[in-house]
Amino acid sequence: MKVGFIGAGKVGTTLGKYFSTRGIEVTGYFSRSIQSAKEAASFTGSRASGNADALMELSDVLFLTVPDGEIQKVYSRLDKEKMKGKILCHSSGSLSAGETFPGIEEQGAYGYSVHPLSAVSDRFTAYREMQDIFFTIEGSEARLDEMRKWLKSIGLHAAVIDGSKKTLYHAAAVIASNHVVALFAEAQEMLASCGLDEGTAKDAMASLFLGNARHIAEVGPTAALTGPIERGDSGTAAKHLAAIESEDDRELYRLISMRLLKIAKAKHPERDYSPIEKIIKRGIPT
Ligand SMILES: NC(=O)c1ccc[n+]([C@@H]2O[C@H](COP(=O)([O-])OP(=O)(O)OC[C@H]3O[C@@H](n4cnc5c(N)ncnc54)[C@H](OP(=O)(O)O)[C@@H]3O)[C@@H](O)[C@H]2O)c1
Repeated sequence: MKVGFIGAGKVGTTLGKYFSTRGIEVTGYFSRSIQSAKEAASFTGSRASGNADALMELSDVLFLTVPDGEIQKVYSRLDKEKMKGKILCHSSGSLSAGETFPGIEEQGAYGYSVHPLSAVSDRFTAYREMQDIFFTIEGSEARLDEMRKWLKSIGLHAAVIDGSKKTLYHAAAVIASNHVVALFAEAQEMLASCGLDEGTAKDAMASLFLGNARHIAEVGPTAALTGPIERGDSGTAAKHLAAIESEDDRELYRLISMRLLKIAKAKHPERDYSPIEKIIKRGIPT
């Protein structure tokens, strides 16, 4: 398969470089600025193109690695005659192929979202981590399995998801990445109230945070769970709630503790968690 890119930014350059290291022919880059296209082309041993339709003609697969708001606009401007038989992909986590490539199958073409579950922050180094990253794919049924197998054949982990659930899928990715940032910041602020400066608080939590993240990723949340909620230590939970000053922060503690209780109950069905559940739900001090 020959692969071309419209959008020579972080994801386009990274995927192109990864594909080229796997023996896939990269046909080239078209981008808003010719400078970006030239940089990506030089990095991937391909060509910068001044014409998106010409690049599509040269390619079997065309990635539209432009910002989410541009994907459908770029698609709508492509020559539908030249699109026949082509595979178009985008890499948005929040948009489905159906939303971005309306009517693509009527053009005799195929559309997919191919999303790397990862933050790609550097155009020129991120390709080295691609094989550790999980991709999800959804789109035109006719060649979906072929696309998944193609990604697998070049060393990428790829799973098919339901396109109608793309927003829910993206919300899950946000919880696993961005929401963790909020929890880290919350703990950091609490440590500041205990007398640690911001930098010390960050350093103090580093090994706890990283060790926990690694353990969860290795064995899953149920086996990795520890702490007062799992132990059913209602006295400690009550003291925590009494020590946390703002109602919003207590609410956050309660909601997350309720989710932890669900895991604890599944892990230890023989245990009675009703006393701690009562404390968490109502914040009643013992
Ligand atoms: N970065 C991430 O962490 C990440 C992770 C997963 C998925 N994604 C998805 O990957 C896609 C690309 O994101 P990115 O982070 O690579 O963005 P980016 O670094 O900002 O790159 C976007 C590129 O698209 C080009 N572009 C913008 N509008 C265009 C247009 N109308 N026609 C042609 N080229 C245009 C830009 O042009 P110039 O440089 O030429 O000005 C830029 O090179 C998005 O759908 C995003 O949701 C990103």
